[in-house]
Amino acid sequence: MQTSVIKPVEFDAPSQGGACSTASAWARVPDSPTQEERAALKNRAKALLKQRGAVLVAHYYVDADLQDLAEETGGCVSDSLEMARFGRDHAAQTLVVAGVRFMGETSKILSPHKTVLMPDLDATCSLDLGCPADDFAAFCDAHPDRTVVVYANTSAAVKARADWMVTSSIGLDVVAHLHAQGKKILWAPDRHLGGYIQRETGADLLMWQGSCLVHDEFKGVELELLKAAHPQAKVLVHPESPAAVVALADMVGSTSQMIAAARDMDAEEFIVATDNGLLHKMRLAAPGKRFIEAPTAGNSATCKSCAHCPWMAMNGLRNLVRVLERGDNEIVVDAETGLLAYRCIDRMLAFAAAKKANVRPGPDLAREQALFAGVGPA
Ligand code: 13P
Ligand code: SF4
Repeated sequence: MQTSVIKPVEFDAPSQGGACSTASAWARVPDSPTQEERAALKNRAKALLKQRGAVLVAHYYVDADLQDLAEETGGCVSDSLEMARFGRDHAAQTLVVAGVRFMGETSKILSPHKTVLMPDLDATCSLDLGCPADDFAAFCDAHPDRTVVVYANTSAAVKARADWMVTSSIGLDVVAHLHAQGKKILWAPDRHLGGYIQRETGADLLMWQGSCLVHDEFKGVELELLKAAHPQAKVLVHPESPAAVVALADMVGSTSQMIAAARDMDAEEFIVATDNGLLHKMRLAAPGKRFIEAPTAGNSATCKSCAHCPWMAMNGLRNLVRVLERGDNEIVVDAETGLLAYRCIDRMLAFAAAKKANVRPGPDLAREQALFAGVGPA
């Protein structure tokens, strides 16, 4: 398998070019409101969502209050595949995306006529930051014989260069499908997810060397010790984790698949290797079961020790209410980039729908034409 040399990105350095470093992200994580404030903020957000005709689409890693609010108001809390689908299919003309920037951009690309707002536009992702569009384009140019498959955790400009976008819940199936067609793949940006897919499918993957700074911190050696102390526990692992952690898993999958496993597996105790925001939903889905966070390294007060994404943590009730009051923090994707990026996302959604219906996958060109009619160049 070939690999490439990619420039490292220092996430704890002062932010450059508008991207929010982990240090400045932590500094902007909103304080937890008191019990009374929470109730008042939730009521205010409910009224504003109604007034704006907006729907809240949240990821499982954000604040538990936002997750609950999304469900209580007819929105959704889910993994990045379902978030994309839900926002596209919902009748609301305003989508409020509580998550990170690539999720807001994906919603905007799929629904170019809708208004997409986010509580904090600087909530980003180390995978996205670690894969600048120009460097990625040069990487693709150097390997024109390969089908370009990118993870959802990338900018709109990177997606615009891709043949396929995948999320963690469907990446394995898409790559297996391409491998069966004899295609060689250029994969970006997560080397751990790419490595997992490569090992599982045997596909020829040329990989960008990015990683998620949260999952990268899970440690196989410590996990082995924890497993020995809890021999009955099943280990649930997100595939952004290193190979040594994945090797110890009883189940590897996306956030939604991990929740389903916690609910359905015949065990009372689980060790969970992903952002600890997921435990809120896991506890609701599997009441009475016990969940232990997988071990990470270090004790400093950063994401390196707490298994929580600093950018996901930037979403809170206060900045949600603020964005609903002001209608600012709007996601903008220029029309040309949006159309190019749309194709690789729609291809994945068509593949997912076909897989569910058990038919041959293919893009929905009629929908693409209808959707982009009237969307002019930026
Ligand atoms: P999922 O698609 O599994 O929700 O993952 C998104 C993500 O950013 C994980 O770190
Ligand atoms: Fe990105 Fe990791 Fe945060 Fe997910 S948890 S948004 S992959 S930095």
